[in-house]
Amino acid sequence: MLIHAITADVTYEFASEVRAGLTREGQKELPSKYLYDDVGSALFEVISHLPEYGLTRADARLLRRYADEIVDRVAGPVAVAELGSGSGKKTRWLLQALCRRQRTSYYPVEISRSALAMCERELRDIDAISILGFEREYLDGLLEVAARRKEGQHLFVLFLGSTIGNFDRPAGVKFLSEIRRTLEPGDSLLLGTDLLKPVEQLLRAYDDDLGVTAAFNLNLLARINRELDADFELSEFAHQARINREARRVEMHLVSKRRQSVRVPAANIVVEFLEGESVWTESSHKYTAEEIFETARRAGFRCQAQWIDEEWPFAENLLVAE
Ligand code: TRP
Repeated sequence: MLIHAITADVTYEFASEVRAGLTREGQKELPSKYLYDDVGSALFEVISHLPEYGLTRADARLLRRYADEIVDRVAGPVAVAELGSGSGKKTRWLLQALCRRQRTSYYPVEISRSALAMCERELRDIDAISILGFEREYLDGLLEVAARRKEGQHLFVLFLGSTIGNFDRPAGVKFLSEIRRTLEPGDSLLLGTDLLKPVEQLLRAYDDDLGVTAAFNLNLLARINRELDADFELSEFAHQARINREARRVEMHLVSKRRQSVRVPAANIVVEFLEGESVWTESSHKYTAEEIFETARRAGFRCQAQWIDEEWPFAENLLVAE
């Protein structure tokens, strides 16, 4: 067993992206990847246990139930790269199934250092596994994994938990195409997608009664206070989940409760907010099972198989690079 992590320092980028997002014309925005610092990753872990948010459990249920079937369809021998591993809990089933067949190198790619450490602790007891984590953005990490590919080895990329839904549809196709470009024909991608469901169920999933999702979203402002020395008054902003029917997505916003100005010294800006004005922090697009075939095709993959949860509409899609 080999455990090792390659880390990065990203504060400067954070400041410049915050500056760009909060000073742009019209709708203010912050990139959703910054939700996942240590506090945010811990809060998201709690969200995944909430009764209102069935997504992660559906994903885990499918992986547990169908791990052997999924692995049987993946051409081998393979090395596994996971984009956004989180705690790594639900990946165990797939890795165990694979490790019964071959010695397996597992490369989690994750921007949260604490999630990466947790993932390595969680999975290192599996027989015949070696783990090398990358504290990197998805595509940078994947390129490094691809550079380690051995002669005759296929890559099996995992992109679980419906993170693809956080891209708008065209950007999702573009991102999948970029993954495709680092792969060889015959390599596989297991893609998790949350499926369309009734509006009330969606709103509850992104605005739970306990307020954990609200805390998760507000933590982005708290993080800007912590890391960029800003003076956001958290109680003056409210979490809001909005349905955008046309775009088939839930949007998460932080709404300013009054007119106010906020200083962000490390980004060298003072930001003015009107009462009711929002910062858009995340979108979660919901797919139909059918549209995934076309999405895959446009990105250079063929959707070879699909597994759908009955309790919470969610699909695992096995895509093969053409
Ligand atoms: N990727 C998750 C999703 O779209 C992240 C998430 C869950 C999230 N709840 C949230 C992001 C609330 C922002 C706010 O389901």
